[in-house]
Amino acid sequence: MKILLFGCNGQLGWELQRSLAPLGELVALDFDSPQHHADFARPDGLADTVRSLTPDVIVNAAAHTAVDRAEAEPELARTLNAAAPAVLAREAAARGAWLVHYSTDYVFDGSGQEFRREDAPTGPLNVYGRTKLEGEQLVRASGCRHLIFRTSWVYAARGGNFARTMLKLAGERERLTVIDDQIGAPTGVDLLADVTSHALRIAARNPALAGTYHAVAAGETSWHGYATMVIEWARRQGLAMKVAPDAVMPVPTNAFPTPARRPLNSRLHTGRLQQAFDLTMPHWCAGVLRMLTEVHGR
Ligand SMILES: NC(=O)c1ccc[n+]([C@@H]2O[C@H](COP(=O)([O-])OP(=O)(O)OC[C@H]3O[C@@H](n4cnc5c(N)ncnc54)[C@H](OP(=O)(O)O)[C@@H]3O)[C@@H](O)[C@H]2O)c1
Repeated sequence: MKILLFGCNGQLGWELQRSLAPLGELVALDFDSPQHHADFARPDGLADTVRSLTPDVIVNAAAHTAVDRAEAEPELARTLNAAAPAVLAREAAARGAWLVHYSTDYVFDGSGQEFRREDAPTGPLNVYGRTKLEGEQLVRASGCRHLIFRTSWVYAARGGNFARTMLKLAGERERLTVIDDQIGAPTGVDLLADVTSHALRIAARNPALAGTYHAVAAGETSWHGYATMVIEWARRQGLAMKVAPDAVMPVPTNAFPTPARRPLNSRLHTGRLQQAFDLTMPHWCAGVLRMLTEVHGR
């Protein structure tokens, strides 16, 4: 199996370099790769890259993920999140290749309390969500064999992340305020990359499994619950904390105005993924604890 990976140095792309490697020959490109055009801001050039590398599978981990910045640059967000994936999908369809693509809980409006299934009505609240939804739709409309994984609250051990920010602030401030009315599941890129690799192997032998899947860790929490868990872990580890145990205060979303509106309910139902690919999604706490140990533990 020859795999062409775009966005190889992003949070997810980095882990995909690891998890896809055993499946076959892997060509991993970032937007400024010198030998092949892989800049999503100029989507037309991507067709030549696909044609010259002749992959059996294209994996797209590149995206415009700066949710607030996207409000100010909607055309660029649309080019990266919709027009470029459409070119990859067209090329995949033309050569009978698979396309693996990632999308987001932000395609939904965040109303209600339930875990949404794949066929629930969409209704994005911001530019990022609208462009990601358009990307999904263009991939499906191309007729290529595809796997679209919608995920949420993605973190990686490498680089900055929410947990690291909370630990830094907890070491500097006596009191923290954290949003408690957005609910979702923090999902590690290690889990997402392993799910991708596993699902791809199975789908390659059973094309009827092509489609859209929700791929997030099990359970649910708020950003406040997530922060509290991380800070309690740090206290148990003996890391220096300035914030008192009862001084991590819950606040509503409107306490932190942002350019982009965020969905309150980001719960995604993963039954379809687990059943189709014989998987069990682990609880979000397991992945976050592992990441914390990797980054800070002894
Ligand atoms: N992060 C989340 O919380 C989250 C939640 C739900 C879904 N998702 C989806 O999951 C997927 C992976 O996200 P992630 O967290 O790994 O994002 P990420 O870390 O921001 O990675 C995105 C990658 O795209 C690259 N990129 C930016 N502009 C590009 C361009 N013009 N041409 C080619 N590549 C370009 C970035 O390069 P630079 O870093 O050099 O700019 C980076 O390598 C995306 O489809 C995202 O929409 C993410």
